[in-house]
Amino acid sequence: MSELCMPDVTLPPVHSGWYLLGFDSEIGRGVTPLDIGRRLIAVRGRDRIRVFDATCPHRGAHLGYGGRLVESAGGPGQSSAAAGGPGQSSAVICPFHGKRIGLGGPGRLSVAEHHVVRVGDAVFVRLSGDPAQDRGFGQVLADLAEQRIVIGALSEHVPVPPELIVENAFDAEHFSAVHLVPRVTGMEIKPGETGELVIEGEFATAPPFWEKGQAKVVHSRFVARAYSPGIVVTEVGPPDRAHVVITAASPAPGGCLARFALAIRPGQIDEFGALAAGARHAFKQDFEVWSHLDPAVVPRLDSRDATVVAFREFCAGFPAA
Ligand code: FES
Ligand SMILES: [Fe+2]
Repeated sequence: MSELCMPDVTLPPVHSGWYLLGFDSEIGRGVTPLDIGRRLIAVRGRDRIRVFDATCPHRGAHLGYGGRLVESAGGPGQSSAAAGGPGQSSAVICPFHGKRIGLGGPGRLSVAEHHVVRVGDAVFVRLSGDPAQDRGFGQVLADLAEQRIVIGALSEHVPVPPELIVENAFDAEHFSAVHLVPRVTGMEIKPGETGELVIEGEFATAPPFWEKGQAKVVHSRFVARAYSPGIVVTEVGPPDRAHVVITAASPAPGGCLARFALAIRPGQIDEFGALAAGARHAFKQDFEVWSHLDPAVVPRLDSRDATVVAFREFCAGFPAA
C-alpha cells in the first residue's frame, strides 16, 4: 500500500466560505453577540436576521455586549439591503463611548454586513463577498427551503479544529471502525459541479427500526458534499427518500462548536425523533475519538486516506476572510 502525505496546508483561522452561524433559538431580540472565530453580532428584524462585524471601529468595544439598537423608520427588518448587501437603516449605540455605529454601509464609524441565509431553524453566514466562495451552497439552501424542513438536532463543543468535524464525512475508513457500518464500498471522491467536494459510495447497514422485518441488510447510497471547510451536507438512502444531515463546525475557544441539523421532507416529520437520536449517537461515537486525539501526531497515511487528503486540499482553496 503506497504512503501518502498530508498536504502541508495551514488553514486560515477564519475562512471566507459558509458557516452555520447558529440555530434560530440562539439568536435573541435586539443585538446578539456571536463568535465563529470572528466577532459578529446578529440583529433580528421583523422578518429576517442580519449579521455584522462586532468590533466598534472607534476603539474596539464589542457591540454585542451592551450595544443598543436604534432603528430609523422601517427598522432593521425593512432595510433596503438585499440579503447580504449593506444597509443603513439602523445603527448600534456603542456601550463604550456611546457613538452611533452604522450597521453596514461605508461610513467611517460603521461595521460590515455579511451575507446571511436562514432556512428553517438554521442561520447560515458567508464571510466573503466573493461569489467564488459560494460553491453552489446558496442554491442548495434555496432548494432545501422549498422542499424540506430544517431542524437543529445538536450543538456541542468539541476539542478539535472545526475542519476535523467536516472531514469526518470524507474519512472513508472510519465508518466501519467507529460507526460499525458492516460494509462500505465505492467511496469515490470528485469535484462537484459548483466547486463543492463530493464523496459517494454505498453503505450496507441493518434496517432502521421502522423498516424492520423487511430485509436483513439495507444498501444505502451515501453522498456527502462539502461546501466549505465548515459545512458538509450528507444524504443517506435512495435519492427520492434520502435522509439529509447538515453537519457544521466553527472555531470556538479550545476547539470548535459542532452542529447538526436535519433537513426533513414534510412527509418524514414523524421520523425526526429517531433520526435525531441516530445523529446524536453517531456524534457520540465520533466524540470519543475526537476528544482523545493527539494533535501533535505526524500522520503516516496510506492510499485509503486519499479522500481525507482531498478534503484538506479542498479546504486550502478558501482564503482567509
Ligand atoms: S469603542 Fe465604541 S464608541 Fe468608543
Ligand atoms: Fe463519524
